[in-house]
Amino acid sequence: MAVGYASGKAILFGEHAVVYGQPAIAVPVTQVQARAEVKDVGRGQGITIVARDLGRTYKLSEAPPDDALRTIVVSTLERVRVGQEKDLAITVSSTIPVARGLGSGAAVSTAIVRALLEHFDKWLDSRAISDLVFETEKIHHGNPSGIDNTVIAFEKPVYFVKEGPMEIFWVQRSFLLVIADTGVQSSTKVAVEDVRRAWEKEPIRYEGLFEDIGTIAEMGRQAIEQGDMETMGRLMTENQRLLRLLKVSSPELEGLIGAAQQGGALGAKLSGAGRGGNMIALVTQETCGQVSMMLRLAGAKDVIVTEVG
Ligand code: PMV
Repeated sequence: MAVGYASGKAILFGEHAVVYGQPAIAVPVTQVQARAEVKDVGRGQGITIVARDLGRTYKLSEAPPDDALRTIVVSTLERVRVGQEKDLAITVSSTIPVARGLGSGAAVSTAIVRALLEHFDKWLDSRAISDLVFETEKIHHGNPSGIDNTVIAFEKPVYFVKEGPMEIFWVQRSFLLVIADTGVQSSTKVAVEDVRRAWEKEPIRYEGLFEDIGTIAEMGRQAIEQGDMETMGRLMTENQRLLRLLKVSSPELEGLIGAAQQGGALGAKLSGAGRGGNMIALVTQETCGQVSMMLRLAGAKDVIVTEVG
């Protein structure tokens, strides 16, 4: 039996604007993980996919062509030149909440690729894994920037520009993030489409907002590289102000962001597509407990603390 894992991710700066070519910064979140298990089954059974969390078991041969799990299995087997006439059970489970901005779709796909590589004793570098997962991201997201598959496949903090070279960057001083879940599921595809429609109606205004977000991502990278937590926190809060103007925040997110600020966070913002899902707050060792408590009191469904760097 072969097993593959992949972490979740959080976007620190630049979501949505990244779809329009602006830079963004994302980090892995190792506290939540997807897991895939591949094992041989009796001859003639073909490939079965068991999606534990969704309570679904189905034959690969019967899945529709736009099924994301089918797509990643088929494309991985093709990429490593293993035929599809195999007899396998592929079981997937994940502690990453679905549709909450933590990259569950990309992580599940990455875990499947890793488990298949292990099972067939093959090797692909992180770039090749990321490219395979990107194809399934198109099914989940419609028009993905590629940031989720990149940060999850490389498992490092990344400075990402769509269709540009990906850069892994140096975290000068490790920092703590509190990640809190509104409990509200939100479709990345719908949020991205809504922003696109708004941009089509008011291109100049929206391009200005995207550029401002891109500038914040640049400055955010410098702050992280210099270990300047105060500036990083201020930039997160400013990024949130611009995301609000893009109309991707929500009352639940604003409630949690306000609570984190009251608890003494250096900065706070939504993370991912918004409209629900998770928010992140930058905290110190001293404020971490207080901020986490305030978030729970404000109704967070889950609170994770992760150290970056
Ligand atoms: O909601 P998530 O974790 O899939 O993040 C989406 C990030 C967006 O910038 C909104 C879309 C994208 O493809 O980059």
